Amino acid sequence: MAHIVRVARLGARLASAHGIDPGAARTAGLLHDLARLFPAERLLAESARRGLPVGPFERDHPIVLHAALGAELAREQFGITDPDVLSAIRKHTVADAVMSPLDSVVYLADGLEPGRDFPGRAELATLAFRDLDGALRGLLASTLRYLAQRGLGVAPQTRAAARRYDVELPAPSEPASAKEPCSA
Ligand SMILES: [Fe+2]
Ligand SMILES: [Fe+2]
Repeated sequence: MAHIVRVARLGARLASAHGIDPGAARTAGLLHDLARLFPAERLLAESARRGLPVGPFERDHPIVLHAALGAELAREQFGITDPDVLSAIRKHTVADAVMSPLDSVVYLADGLEPGRDFPGRAELATLAFRDLDGALRGLLASTLRYLAQRGLGVAPQTRAAARRYDVELPAPSEPASAKEPCSA
């Protein structure tokens, strides 16, 4: 997947700009989506088999499990033992209340690599080179807006990150049908 190479590249550049080990960012970038293409049943089964936390949000949105499961696969299949790299892989999708600089770099690289297409992406990517927390706030806000506009659920970890980084949770939009005039 070209996305993976772009995440590894942007992650390494962001890491260098902030005095973080670019090799760790590159490794996390290359391995972050190992479980991304697993179907829902496999994500749920393999996560349960390894005792990974599977709460109501994960049961409703099994796709998010590819992050925690990806970290386990990086350890099992690629012998990655660096807890910082494993943490960055684990948090790349829904973030968390506590984000290390490497966690932030990989989360930002995943969301802001040039293949992503949403308004403000390029500006946030530029900001990320000088202000990791500012870019993280911007990306969290953009993600929350996207989820609210589509009436999609927000992971508890993303809510915790929003609280920690002072990002307001937008009110969910009304479903389109609720805005239509009543025909009666
Ligand atoms: Fe991912
Ligand atoms: Fe990704």
